Order: sequence, then structure tokens, then C-alpha cells
Amino acid sequence: MRVGIITGGGDCPGLNAVIRGAVLHGEETHGLSFAGYRNGWRGTAVGDIVPLGRPHVRGIARLGGTILGTSRTNPWEFGGEDAVRDVMHTHGIDAILAIGGDGTLAVAQRLHAAGIPIVGVPKTVDNDLNATDMTFGFDTAVSIATEAMDRLRTTGDSHGRCMVAEVMGRHAGWIALHSGMAAGAHAILIPENATTADELIGWVRSAHDRGRAPLVVVAEGFVPPGEASAHSTKGDDAFGRPRLGGVGDRIAALIEQRTGIETRSSLLGHIQRGGVPTAFDRVLATRFGIAAIDLVAAGGWGRMVALHGTAVEDVPLEDALGSSKRVSEERYREASRLFG
Ligand code: F6P
Repeated sequence: MRVGIITGGGDCPGLNAVIRGAVLHGEETHGLSFAGYRNGWRGTAVGDIVPLGRPHVRGIARLGGTILGTSRTNPWEFGGEDAVRDVMHTHGIDAILAIGGDGTLAVAQRLHAAGIPIVGVPKTVDNDLNATDMTFGFDTAVSIATEAMDRLRTTGDSHGRCMVAEVMGRHAGWIALHSGMAAGAHAILIPENATTADELIGWVRSAHDRGRAPLVVVAEGFVPPGEASAHSTKGDDAFGRPRLGGVGDRIAALIEQRTGIETRSSLLGHIQRGGVPTAFDRVLATRFGIAAIDLVAAGGWGRMVALHGTAVEDVPLEDALGSSKRVSEERYREASRLFG
């Protein structure tokens, strides 16, 4: 059997480790061969394909990004399942291994429903996919954000300023919650919790009154006090989802205006997604790659691998779709005990 591998959606540290795990295990254990689709779903529909075998995956587990390239394209803009099927036929590809987040897995589910043999691997730095306890990329993003916040604290301390750090996560607060806790933030603002301006100002004042330089962590999807939706001024992505980013500046302005404390905001942005994956993410991604190939060999079409506790299992693709995994009230309350 020849398997085409595609990486779709935003890149994520650990993608290359999945590809390596899948190719090495697939060739050695199951006698499979592989092809790489270039640049996400576009490659599956237009036939942009590169050779993929043991020599191509040598030493790539430690590399960030994806050797295959990625995009947020929608294959229905290029002919949909008919085009994907034609390309498979022309290139002798029997099945697809799709590595991606909710957008990519929704496409995989739709292609599966159209009869294309497909298996999924969940990925996202946001950690917001249902049906898996964790996704690779999250640990790396949290580590990078934490290190950045440690740095913000030393400059904040030197000037006696309030520092606001804005992190990614889309409409889930996982990166903010974990990096904020790790960095000892005085306030963490996440989309799942409607923090009021008074609460925020109370935490900032309390830290400042103790002689600390307050650190406020805000998730990009946080809904500003008194508003109905997340701050978005950049239009929508290819899947019609609002592009986020920039709420940190608004929170900084609010703090400065209400407290008079000099405040600066930093948007960490794509730095959180770049660079080498942590050891944790390399291990999780490698295990996902191996398990996904066992699923392909077993004909587990329409399913994806998932982490449950410490075990890698598999679930229907549709279990990951429809809603996202959000921070519970209990987890937020736990973190908020140390705010202020
Ligand atoms: O889903 C991952 C993510 O990094 C989000 O946290 C962020 O909102 C989005 O992707 C950014 O997308 P892009 O790379 O297209 O700007």
C-alpha cells in the first residue's frame, strides 16, 4: 500500500516527528511506501507531490515546522473529492494520512464520507481538540511563552511597569493558563471566563501595591469586558474563522488608564509556533505517527489517533469535531487563587 501524508492548517512543532515515526514504522513493520503531499490540502487536489521515504525523514524529529509545507486551503476550491481521487489514482496512492487541527480533520472527515481511505493525526498548539487529552505542539508553545514571560518580568521589574503578554490559543485559554501559571502571572485572562475590568484592576493594584511589577497574561480570544466577542480586526481565515490578535494592547490601555501604572504589552504571536519541539512533543508526535500507521495497516479509515491518559488509542474523526475542548471553570478557579 502507498500512503500519502499531508500536513494541514497552521504549522506546529512536532509535525516532522509524526512524519518520521510514520515513515520509519510503515516501511519497516508493514512494508508500506509513502508520498508527501505539498502545502496542505491544495497538494492533494492539484497533485503537488514529493517522494517520501527513509532518506527524507533522517534527523527531522528535532526540526520545527513541516518538511511538507502546509496551508489553510480548502480542497473544494480545487475540485474536492473528485480531484483528490484523480490525484491518488495518477500517483498510485491508496490511502491518506492527514495531520492537522480541526479545519484539516473536518476536511478529512468529509473525504472519508466520500469514500476516500483516510486516517487522522490531531495537532494544534492550542490544545483545544476534543477526543484527545493533549496535542503535540502545545508543550512547546507553553515553554516558549513561559520563557518570554520570564524575560518580560525582569524588564517589568526594572521599570516598575505592568507587563501584558498576549498569547495564542484561538477561542481556548490553554496556552494562557499554563504559561501564565508557569510564569507566576498576577492575572490570566482567557476566553472561557468573563473577567470584569474591576477584577483585573484589583489584581494589578494588589500586585503593584506589594512592590511587584504586575504580569498580566491574556489569551488572544479573550472577550474584552462589556463586549460580546473576541477582538478581531484582520478578517477571516480560509475556513471562515475570525483571525485574532491585538487584544493585549487594549488590555494594557485599560490598565494604564484605570491605574496610572505605566504598562507595556507584547504580542508573542507566531514565535510560539516556531523552532524546535520540546522532548515531550517529539515523543508524543512520534507515538502518534507510529500508532497512525498501525491504524492505516488495520484499515481504520475515518479514525484518528488520540492520547487518553498515557495511552495512545484511536477514535472516530467526528469525535474531535463540532466543538472544542475548553478550560473548565474549576481549572480557572484553581489558577485564580494565586492572582493579585
Ligand atoms: O490554531 C493555531 C493558531 O496558531 C492559533 O492560535 C492562531 O489564532 C492561529 O493559528 C493563527 O493562524 P495563522 O498562522 O494563519 O496566522
